[in-house]
Amino acid sequence: MRWRYFIILQVIILLVAAGLVYLHQDKTQLVKTPPTILAQWYKPENKRQVWLHNMFKLRREMQAVAFYANKKDAEHLQQWADQLNNHYLKIADMVPTWQKKLAISTMSQLKKASEEKNFTSVLIQHKKLQKSCDSCHDDYQAITALTYRSPDFSNIEISSDLSFIDHMDSLTKQVNQIKISAQDGDKYLALSSLAELNEGMELLGETCVDCHKKDRKAYPNAAMNKTLSSLKISLESGTVKQQGRELGTLAVLACARCHGTHRIAYGAKKHLTTEISFSNLIKH
Ligand code: HEC
Ligand code: HEC
Ligand code: HEC
Repeated sequence: MRWRYFIILQVIILLVAAGLVYLHQDKTQLVKTPPTILAQWYKPENKRQVWLHNMFKLRREMQAVAFYANKKDAEHLQQWADQLNNHYLKIADMVPTWQKKLAISTMSQLKKASEEKNFTSVLIQHKKLQKSCDSCHDDYQAITALTYRSPDFSNIEISSDLSFIDHMDSLTKQVNQIKISAQDGDKYLALSSLAELNEGMELLGETCVDCHKKDRKAYPNAAMNKTLSSLKISLESGTVKQQGRELGTLAVLACARCHGTHRIAYGAKKHLTTEISFSNLIKH
């Protein structure tokens, strides 16, 4: 009799837990995050993007193996199959916990078949191996690229007493002050806010070179400068409609383009890489 109550109680607890998870399914998303040991195969911990380059080699070797197996060119096939084998096994050397994700026996069968010049079997194993590549990529590829390769703004500052994010806030205030003052006919304040925005943009432009060393990004660039001066002219003598149009163009060129690349990626990365505290987890 007692056991029956106990089991019923267990079932109720399970149902409540399942119900809670179900209720929250539209508010949370489970993602598998890659092992942190991966960091040592990426900049800045490593001088080179070792992990990524091993992957590029694997793709090339997979292509070469299929190419020479189809051509029945045993000599080249075997060279490429050996390379493929080495770089495939390197995955688990670099990240030991991913050993279990590897199709080791498929890999060795492919190697053996190539030694035996069994081209049909090579192609069959090749197909199987590709599935093992795909299965790890489905779980980890995008998240890994985001975590270790998207530009990180956490250490970028405008000056020793001005953080990057505070500078962003003041740029936004200037953009909106231009709009507010132009709309309400305060030409003087609109123009002085534009001058401040222009200065703030030049200040921001000095940070690009921290990362864009070779592909120098002029910021503000020629198109932005052109819009800045036509906005000035329309604030002095244009219609409210013209002013709005120029300001909109400026915001796209000078803010939205960069946000499309940097803010979206950095924001997602921040979410993924901040540690979740237990209380936060419970709150969710
Ligand atoms: C255990 C996990 C795992 C396995 C197995 C694996 N990969 Fe990857 N691969 C990754 C991760 C993680 C990335 C993301 C790296 C990045 O973008 O910085 C990646 C990225 C790649 C890329 C770069 C994609 C791009 O264009 O940016 C290629 C190419 C690639 N893998 C090929 C292969 C091939 C071919 C195989 C099988 C022979 C393979 N990988 C097996 C984890 C794996
Ligand atoms: C923390 C390093 C970092 C800083 C600071 C940085 N960038 Fe980038 N940016 C990159 C990297 C790396 C890429 C290559 C694409 C990628 O991986 O997202 C890139 C790509 C871009 C792109 C898109 C690709 C292209 O070449 O057109 C634009 C536009 C851009 N950056 C503009 C800027 C501007 C403007 C600034 C300064 C206001 C700036 N970036 C500051 C690292 C940075
Ligand atoms: C490097 C390219 C880049 C350019 C150019 C840029 N931003 Fe940003 N902006 C960022 C990044 C990256 C973040 C996210 C910073 C963070 O989360 O720490 C951001 C965040 C912001 C934020 C959010 C601040 C907050 O408190 O969360 C605002 C507002 C903003 N930008 C306004 C602007 C305006 C207005 C302009 C144009 C005049 C502009 N940005 C130009 C990269 C850029």
